[in-house]
Amino acid sequence: MTFRRQDAVPIYGNYHGYYSKRPLSEDRRLALLPKDLFEGARVLDVGCNEGLVTCHIAQSLGARKVVGVDIDESLITAAWKRRRSAWSQQEPSEEQISSPSRALRPDYFPASSEHMFGPLPIPTPKPRLDAFPQNLIFKHADWVTTEIAEDAEGYGVVVAFSVSKWIHLNSGDEGLLQFFHRVHTVLCPGGAFVLEPQPWDTYAKAKRMDAVRKLRSTANGLKMRPEDFPRLLREIGFGDVEHRGETGEGGEI
Ligand SMILES: C[S@@+](CC[C@H](N)C(=O)[O-])C[C@H]1O[C@@H](n2cnc3c(N)ncnc32)[C@H](O)[C@@H]1O
Repeated sequence: MTFRRQDAVPIYGNYHGYYSKRPLSEDRRLALLPKDLFEGARVLDVGCNEGLVTCHIAQSLGARKVVGVDIDESLITAAWKRRRSAWSQQEPSEEQISSPSRALRPDYFPASSEHMFGPLPIPTPKPRLDAFPQNLIFKHADWVTTEIAEDAEGYGVVVAFSVSKWIHLNSGDEGLLQFFHRVHTVLCPGGAFVLEPQPWDTYAKAKRMDAVRKLRSTANGLKMRPEDFPRLLREIGFGDVEHRGETGEGGEI
């Protein structure tokens, strides 16, 4: 008899190693957005996977606070690791380069004082909560059905890159509508919903995931199509859609 290992099927699009196929250097998506979109904003990234794009928004695009959320706990663990390594590889700022002694030793403390009081403690700079890496956290949740604490304050930008298909396939038309409604609820007035929906023809590949019968039967009952999303979003209360461009593999933002 032969037994084969049953690997987990990524029915949520919860691919591991996703960013080795979609590295930042080849990812056009953020470049299609207005340059100042994230400046000073609270950002939610739904379906953040291993957090590569999320880290970039927090580290390099001026966001005040970034929350990445994913349904797959092991991807969230990987995202926290990525945050740490992005931080440790971050180049020192101009200020740190030009006056390293100031950062290390802010006050003059003569030898006699040290003799009397002992050495000065090495200062730990007070972390700025609105700067990387403190401005970035990750949460494990099915964001379609579960609120996270950060939602209460609202967001200026909600990002949903390559995740609508997976929500649609797993939760059906109703689940996707629930997702859109939730985004509308957590967005502050004037906030932006950045959506990269996968085109309908890419759904077929997921439908072929024979190991997952439920996914296939939900998929066969879907009535809504990605081309309906702008109308549905308007009905929910969003303003007119702004098409920003093609993202590759048939997708667009
Ligand atoms: C194809 S990946 C896209 C990753 C990332 N957004 C990007 O485009 O760079 C889809 C991600 O969405 C996550 N996901 C799917 N359904 C979700 C849900 N209901 N709540 C949170 N995350 C979800 C998956 O685990 C997966 O990591």
